[in-house]
Parts: sequence; structure tokens; C-alpha cells
Amino acid sequence: MIKSQIESLRRELEQHNYNYYVLSAPTISDFDFDAKLRQLQELETQHPEFFDPNSPTQRVGSDIANGFEQVAHVYPMLSLGNTYSEGEVQDFYERVRKGLNEEFELVCELKYDGTSISLTYENGELIRAVTRGDGEKGDDVTANVKTIRSIPLRLHGNFPPKFEIRGEILMPWSVFDELNVEREAQEEQLFANPRNAASGTLKLQNSSVVASRKLDGYFYYLLGESLPSDLHSENLKAAHSWGFKVSDATKVCRNLEEVSAFINFWDVERKNLPVATDGIVLKVNSLTQQKNLGFTAKSPRWAIAYKFQAEKAVTRLNSVSYQVGRTGAVTPVANLDPVQLSGTTVKRASLHNADIIEALDLHIGDMVFVEKGGEIIPKITAVDKDARLLIGDKVQFIKACPECGAALTRYEGEAAHYCPNENACPPQIKGKMEHFVSRKAMNIDGLGAETINLLYQNELLHNIADIYSLKIPDLIRLERLGTKSAYNIQAGCEKSKEVPFERVVFALGIRFVGETIAKKLAFAFKTIESLENATFDELIAVDEIGERIAQSVVQYFADAANIETVNRLREYGLQMSLSEEKLQARGESLAGLSIVISGTFSRHSRDEYKTMIEMNGGKNVGSVSAKTSFILAGDNMGPEKLKKAEKLGVKLVDENTFLSMIDVETKSETQMGLLF
Ligand code: IVH
Repeated sequence: MIKSQIESLRRELEQHNYNYYVLSAPTISDFDFDAKLRQLQELETQHPEFFDPNSPTQRVGSDIANGFEQVAHVYPMLSLGNTYSEGEVQDFYERVRKGLNEEFELVCELKYDGTSISLTYENGELIRAVTRGDGEKGDDVTANVKTIRSIPLRLHGNFPPKFEIRGEILMPWSVFDELNVEREAQEEQLFANPRNAASGTLKLQNSSVVASRKLDGYFYYLLGESLPSDLHSENLKAAHSWGFKVSDATKVCRNLEEVSAFINFWDVERKNLPVATDGIVLKVNSLTQQKNLGFTAKSPRWAIAYKFQAEKAVTRLNSVSYQVGRTGAVTPVANLDPVQLSGTTVKRASLHNADIIEALDLHIGDMVFVEKGGEIIPKITAVDKDARLLIGDKVQFIKACPECGAALTRYEGEAAHYCPNENACPPQIKGKMEHFVSRKAMNIDGLGAETINLLYQNELLHNIADIYSLKIPDLIRLERLGTKSAYNIQAGCEKSKEVPFERVVFALGIRFVGETIAKKLAFAFKTIESLENATFDELIAVDEIGERIAQSVVQYFADAANIETVNRLREYGLQMSLSEEKLQARGESLAGLSIVISGTFSRHSRDEYKTMIEMNGGKNVGSVSAKTSFILAGDNMGPEKLKKAEKLGVKLVDENTFLSMIDVETKSETQMGLLF
């Protein structure tokens, strides 16, 4: 009874997933879908005996680390030969014609620009998902791939009992843009393009984060003993009928003219697709003919990629303006005559820094080449010097901050110029406040960029500590803020007083102190007082704290205004020391030991092992030497490390032994959870 209810809910939800993510034609509201999913979740929790690894509930991911296992590919994952001109496509066509000496068809497909994946299905169930890796073996990323809604966990129709299907995991442009906006706000490094974002996401240890990243998957090649047809095009149709997302942009071509028409059509039309493509793939349609043509050492003779040209446009440089970010970094931006590029109108392009401006030898009025390449913002790649009739003023990087007038500085080894006036430069003050209230910092609901701006304009906020002195009547008096919002802000501030110390350190917005570094500092110094008093030497003694960060921390606390802010925050009741629980989660069992981590693990990720070493007084080092105490060795340990360890007599410790050494078993799950 319960079992059939669970199964019917699973089938229903699978169908809705397919309708939504593959067909883009949902037949149920998100609200109803979530309600059904929750119902299924509850039933599964009450009846663990009916657990199914491919239930739709498994798509939400978990925060258990995967520590990817390496898996050998049954069929190696090769790459394709690249061509960049139609002439080279013609050469390929000729080679195939000569090689086969009989009639043949070519299937033209889009070349999706993501990260490749190989999925194994047995009896219609997804068994394993493996990345390309080095082509011979890749990482088992099954848990992460299961979170991708358009990938079927269970197939329908008439599928072979066992097969592999290969395709591309992609991050849609819209998701990519959103993710980068969020990362920028958090001062995290931006992803350069959706391909990097997709492959980075697929390698995350925490599959619930993967689930939130909304990846997609397109599939383009079947492998196995009993495929439905000898024609690749028919196999793709069959795969589509089993539930896979197969691109509509697939065409069987009988001659070069048809191939050329496909290329020209999609070179333009691809700009309207939701995901990135970087070319066309041509494949001989018959699998028998594919076999006859065979492979070279690196790639098949029966397929080739034609890569699209990076899009370029020429336009006029009208002026250069300078933006000041929350950290004070000054970014030069080129203002251009509007020009069409990859489907959007480009009016501005990043000039990155003073060195790049100098290298381009830019003058106002120059005709410049703009490219969208893999970067986030279009960039200027060259100047058309022949087009210079009258030479305009040479672009000179500014010397003073455009917002507050302070003289700009440049840190050694850094390309960027900074405005040092961090406590009195408006975009830096507002930026610091936005950062302070953001989700990963103090997470104060109700205070967004707009409200902060409003409060700043009305002189209610001058500094991050003022956030806690805001009074309800002052807030209500502001025109655009209702009573409800005012109370919301107050409640958000109150709640933020529970935010743990390491996030408070992050929230302060010390230059170069991101989320991870803030955690390291908090655990190393334990209280704000000892962090305030830490010397440069004490700071660089902490793992991963380099000179640049150490100098920035020292400088931050040397400023009396910052000390006053911190003191006020303490008076308002923010957490200014590591909680007791976290202090206790630390141990000394590895004190004084130098430990190398090598190989892949199944119980925790490498990063987690690293944290465990540090949390237990040990030091994680990169290479094996006579000073190495032991190697925490997983599977497939690097051969060089192994050789060196044997030579120096350094012992290997497996993960279970390691965990018992640090007594993880006796520490509570919550204590361990706190560490990551
Ligand atoms: S076929 C043996 N088809 O391009 C060839 N690959 O350089 C199997 N790719 O690793 C690949 N779209 O990641 C094929 N429609 C498509 C593709 C495609 C993108 C990627 C794939 C592969 C790389 C080859």
C-alpha cells in the first residue's frame, strides 16, 4: 500500500521533471510540485525500507562530501580534431570519402561548450556518471549529476539493458550571469565563462550546492553492445524517446552544401540559445562506417569539430571612466559607440588596469576591436591604428579617486590601483555595508543595496556599526520605507547578533579576507582581541595567510576608526570570539606533525581532511620530504609521491586509521560539521 503510493509519487514526479526540464512544457505549478516532493520525502523518511537511490528526492543533493573516486572508462573519452575554416571541413569530407569509397551521410550537431560526461545506465537506471578526466579515467560524480533535473535517473521506452551515453554538462547563460552577480557581491572570484562554472560546479564536494546551480545536460553519443540502430541519427532519436535531452539542432547532411548551410545558419542562430556553443560537430552517420574509419591516436577519423570564430566588432572609443568598488579597487571602463556583438548591444568594455591601457596605446577617438571571448564583460583586444585620422589624447590612468579625490595607490605585485580612503570614500562605505549585511556575512534581512543607499543619503548610516543604532521612528520617517520594513530591519539586526565569529571577521570587509581566510583567522586567533593584536609574523605563520593578507590585516587594525567600529560592534553584542563548541572541536592529537595528503578518499574530501589536520594541531604540507611525518594516503596515490615516500621511509596512513587517530568517531557530528 505505502510502497505503491511511494512508487506512484516517484513516477509522477519523474514525469513532471521530464516535462519541465527536457520538454520545457510543465503541466503542474512549482508549488504543487514542491508539495508532492515533500510528501514523497516524508513517506521515504518514515519508510527507509523503500529507499531508492534514483528517487526524485535524491536530486536535492546532500552535504556529505563525495571525495571523488577515479573510474576507468570502458571506452576512452577522446577529443575531436578542430578545424577553423570551411576549407578544412572540405578536406575532412574528402578524407572520409576516400577512406570509405562508398556513399555516406554526415550528422551535423552543435558543439556544446560545457564539460563532458559519460553516463552508464543498467536496466534503465542511472548507475554512474564519470567526467572525462584524462580520457582514460575520470572522476565519479554520480551524486552531483543526479541533482541535474534534465538528466533522467530512470528511463522510459525501449532501451538496451546496458549502455553508455555521452554528452555535455552546461550552465545556462542566465544561471551563469546570476551566479557571477552573487559571487561579485560576495567578493568571490568570478567564473570566466559558463564552461568553467559548469566544470567547477560538477567537482564541488557538496551536492546540495550543485543542485542549487541549475545545470543542464545535452547528450550526443551512445555506446554499447546492443544499440537500437546502426545510424547515429536514429540512436539520438531513440535516446530522446528514453528521456534524454538531445538537441533539435541536429541534421543529417548528404553533401557539403548542406553542411555549409548548417554552419552558416547556426553561426548566427546559436546566439539565441540558452547555453554556450563554440562550433559544429560533424559525424559520419553509419556506425559501421565509423568503425571502418577508426581512430588516430587522439581522435576519431569519422568526426571533426568546426570552431566558430570569436565574435569581434569595431567601434569608436569615446571616453574612459573609472569605477570604484567596495574594496577601493579602481576599474577603468571604456565608453564606446554602441555596436552589436553576439546578440547584444555593447556600449562599454572593460579595460582591466593601467598596464593594459598602456599596452594597447589607447587614445580617445581610436577605432577599437571589441571581443566577447570567454570573458564576462567584452574587452578591447586591439586598436585599428590605420584608422587614426587625428590622434586624440592618450588615455592616462587617473591619479586621484573619482569619488573622493584621494591619491590612488598600487600594491606591490597587484595590477589594480586602489583608493586608500576606505572609511570616507562613498562607494567603499556603501559597499562595505552591503557586504556586511550580505547572506554569507551577517545575513541581515531587509537591508539591500537600495535601502542602504537611502539610509546613507539620509545620513542615518555612516559606517557598518551604525546599522545597529538605527531606530524604528527614524526609519519610518523615511519616505520609501514602510513600518513593516522598519521592523524587519530591526529583527534582522537582532538575529545577526548570533552570527558566529568567523562570519563576523568576514563581514568586517578587511581587504583580501574572503570567507575562507576569515575562517582561518578566526580559528587561528580565536578572539577579536588577539586578531587585533596579531603581528605580521604571527599572521603569516598561519597556513595560507600570505604577506599580502597579513599586511592588510595589520593595516586594518592599525586604523583607529576601524578599532572604534569593532568596539562598537562588540558593545552591540556581536560574537567576537569563537564559540565554546568550536573551541572544543579542536584537538592536539596531530600537534607538531607535517602531513601530506595524496590520492582520492571516500569518507571525506581532501579539503575536509586538510581542515581536520589543521584543527588537530597538524600542518598540511604539499610535498613529501624527510620532514614529513606521514602521508594520508587515499586510492590512486600519485606515483611520484609513492616513490619518494618509499625512498625516504615515510609511512602511509589510510583514511580510517587517520580518522581514528584524531578521534573523529568520538566527536559529535555537529562538532565535525562545524569545521567545514
Ligand atoms: S562527440 C569521439 N558531439 O567536444 C568524439 N562532442 O573536442 C566524441 N562536444 O569531448 C565527442 N558537443 O566534450 C561530440 N555534439 C557533440 C559535442 C561534443 C560538444 C565536446 C565534448 C568532446 C569535445 C571534443
